[in-house]
Amino acid sequence: MLINITVLPGDGIGPEVTGEAVRVLEAVARRFKHELQFSSQAIGANAIDKSGDPLPPETLRSCLESRAVLLGAVGHPNFERHPVHQRPEAGLLRLRRGLGGFANLRPAFIFPALIDASPLRPEIVRGTDMLIVRELLGGLYFGEPRGIDESGAAFNTMRYSEAEVERVARVAFELARLRRRKVTSVDKANVLESSQLWREVVIRVAADYPDVTLEHQYVDSCAMSLVSRPASFDVIVTENLFGDILSDQAGAIVGSLGLLASATIGGRVGLYEPVHGSAPDIAGKGIANPLGAILSAAMMLRYSFALETEAAAIEQAVDQALAAGLVTHDLATSRAAALNTEQCGRLIVEYLSGA
Ligand code: IPM
Ligand code: MN
Repeated sequence: MLINITVLPGDGIGPEVTGEAVRVLEAVARRFKHELQFSSQAIGANAIDKSGDPLPPETLRSCLESRAVLLGAVGHPNFERHPVHQRPEAGLLRLRRGLGGFANLRPAFIFPALIDASPLRPEIVRGTDMLIVRELLGGLYFGEPRGIDESGAAFNTMRYSEAEVERVARVAFELARLRRRKVTSVDKANVLESSQLWREVVIRVAADYPDVTLEHQYVDSCAMSLVSRPASFDVIVTENLFGDILSDQAGAIVGSLGLLASATIGGRVGLYEPVHGSAPDIAGKGIANPLGAILSAAMMLRYSFALETEAAAIEQAVDQALAAGLVTHDLATSRAAALNTEQCGRLIVEYLSGA
């Protein structure tokens, strides 16, 4: 079976980490006899430099014509003072909307080998295994109206329709059924109408899942619980901005944001991207952690192609490499011992190929 995948390396460390993820996917294809075809397209700052547009039409077209999209990262310090619609990030937001995926799955779990890499005490972080389901197409990121008015004041709109909340809530409950059957819905219903609606709809959806326990938490309190009792969470479902913030926090809790992968499902084509950004401070140095991108590739195999065995093989290779002492620069306490991006990718390929 021929599977075509669009790769969007993007900016900063994006090309370095997607390069390794593609290498790992090629190793999977060899081992399990699949035919993968990759086509690389521009997005973000490099696309603006080339064509003036952070999401050129041919990039979106290629994505819509492929079976899945693998993205590195977008963002560049050169654009810090640009209006938001002219920034690299605008390309990513238009891509997300164009592909239509509304449920962004961000698993965060502690690898046993990395217990000591967490800033939290081992007894607190042990057993942490959560899945953040971030709503990706609504809320402040996309709400209208937005802008700057005549007086110079700036505004954004946090807007959610019942349908938007319901569809992402259903994804969260379905996924909870495959896990520990607990959903924590995170909102700010003591202050925001959009959160009151969110909570009402989630409660209504929960009635269809009597076997799943539902709890509600305000986002401020959730931020605290994440560090004081991270292992108590199973599935967290929340709106776009809250999910963005809490997933970075979850990354730090499990040792490094560089480890976190994501899958965006529910649209025409699945989008897979590490949770970390373009990390301009280390771009081009070859020291970025490619595991977030590699684990995103595993999620692609699982969610876009239903290749569960292949996905699990990547995850197992990562687990084994870490257990055998793999450290990347973000995880290393002493720099000398750390593998660079390419060495890390190559090691995962070795484990995958049964070395
Ligand atoms: C993420 C990123 C993006 C977001 C940025 C780059 C637009 O932070 O995927 O978490 O805010 O969604
Ligand atoms: Mn983010």
